[in-house]
Amino acid sequence: MQVKIENKSILDIDSDVIIVNLFEGVKIPGGVTGIVDCEYNKIISEYVVGEEKFEGKYPEIYVLPVPEKNKKIVIAGLGKQEDFTCSKIRDLTAKIVRTLNTNEKNKKVVSILHGAGIGGICPKCAAQMITEGAISGIYSFDKYKSVKKAINIEEFIIAETDEEKYQKAKKGVELGNIVANSVNMARDLINESSQYLYPETLANFAKENSGVKTEIFNKEQIKEMKMNAFLAVGQGSVHEPKLIHMEYKPENPKKKIAIVGKGITFDAGGLDLKPPSSMLTMRDDMSGAAAVISVMNAISKIKPDVEVHAIVAACENMPSGSAYKPGDVIISKTGRSIEIDNTDAEGRVTLADALAYAEEFSPDEIIDIATLTGACMVALGTVASGIMGNNDENIKKFIEISKKAGEKFWQLPMDEEYADSLKSDIADTKNTGGRMGGASAAGVFLSKFITKTPWMHLDIAGTAFLEKPNSEGIKGGVGVGIRSIVKYILSFN
Ligand code: BES
Ligand code: MG
Ligand code: ZN
Repeated sequence: MQVKIENKSILDIDSDVIIVNLFEGVKIPGGVTGIVDCEYNKIISEYVVGEEKFEGKYPEIYVLPVPEKNKKIVIAGLGKQEDFTCSKIRDLTAKIVRTLNTNEKNKKVVSILHGAGIGGICPKCAAQMITEGAISGIYSFDKYKSVKKAINIEEFIIAETDEEKYQKAKKGVELGNIVANSVNMARDLINESSQYLYPETLANFAKENSGVKTEIFNKEQIKEMKMNAFLAVGQGSVHEPKLIHMEYKPENPKKKIAIVGKGITFDAGGLDLKPPSSMLTMRDDMSGAAAVISVMNAISKIKPDVEVHAIVAACENMPSGSAYKPGDVIISKTGRSIEIDNTDAEGRVTLADALAYAEEFSPDEIIDIATLTGACMVALGTVASGIMGNNDENIKKFIEISKKAGEKFWQLPMDEEYADSLKSDIADTKNTGGRMGGASAAGVFLSKFITKTPWMHLDIAGTAFLEKPNSEGIKGGVGVGIRSIVKYILSFN
């Protein structure tokens, strides 16, 4: 779906549904909601608010049929004005769209630009949030269902009469359409079964959908590049590993950024096999890869003056006669040797080589995104993703940007002591140590494979895949990180 915007009054656009809003406690609505109220004989102020049917609490919505005009009015509860955020616009819009989409009469929907009046949100952000919410709200993964979810909403239009606000909002709609469809693309990839999605098919998907130049390297080529750590993880699978390198190169780039996504298409744990309940969702272990492919897809359309390289070391972590074993010592691409303590800590082993490969291109910054540790999930739950790295200033900046993008990141420590448990008697490092502080230990492990570049590591183990719907109504693959990374890249534009 593509959201549209028109420089017209909401009342002048032909529609089946109009969406307005109400802050909590407001008795007489102002702005466009007030205009709609007047046009509809005070039905909102006298009936809905006056008779206490709806108080504007967040995240409630009120659907008001107006049969004589063959229309519905949906009122979005924005909550208390002082607690208002742009994410709430997105989540509410997603909820409204999900509700409206169940009825085939709701073909054409128009919405006001929530929050751009007394809400104090800039029109561009507000429009981007509505657009992202509408496109998220329509998402479902029903590829393998014989009865598919109907898409009843044919058009979703934002109405804005003020010329200046309209011009700003238009940019938000354009960006929102690109980013939200890229996020849905990542969701499809994450939700796909590993039976169909393995390194080769993931690489082909990237080639067809990243929108940028994509090189795929096979096992022999990976061997030539001395990426033995990456190869070791994949050697137990019947599916060959693939190294994917996507590249967006504008004419005069202001910056050069490398993004690296963990691409384990299935993580059985290897010979240190996972218990069944932990293995169940491990097709999501390529969520980092899905994120970087989707970021490239968005970047290919936005075309910023920033050079972006995306790298995925894609393989499957399986137990078998050829699998890598506990006690194996591997010489990684950097020359640093790794003793395998636990074959289930495979992500960091593949990333060690992928990060080293990324650094060869001399980027100004490297960002990796990975479903790396159960420990991060234990620490931060499904709410926030972990962020670590070797440059606190960049981390601060990323966290601020991610807030504006409606995502949550929380910085975890990277003290050297976290690596104490990784000391090995026979190699430069072990890949795991104790159970305590596991997310930070993994972060410190990764930092050893980067020699000079400012680097950030995003641990999305807890946020990449959800058993229960989040505030946006998303279950399964989330597509977490894409919105923040795109916004971060655009900050250099
Ligand atoms: N892919 C997992 C991490 C993970 C856990 C992602 C839960 C999503 C949800 C990773 O490869 C892993 O298995 N990590 C181990 C490391 C341990 C053996 C040190 C873990 O966290 O249990
Ligand atoms: Mg694992
Ligand atoms: Zn894993």
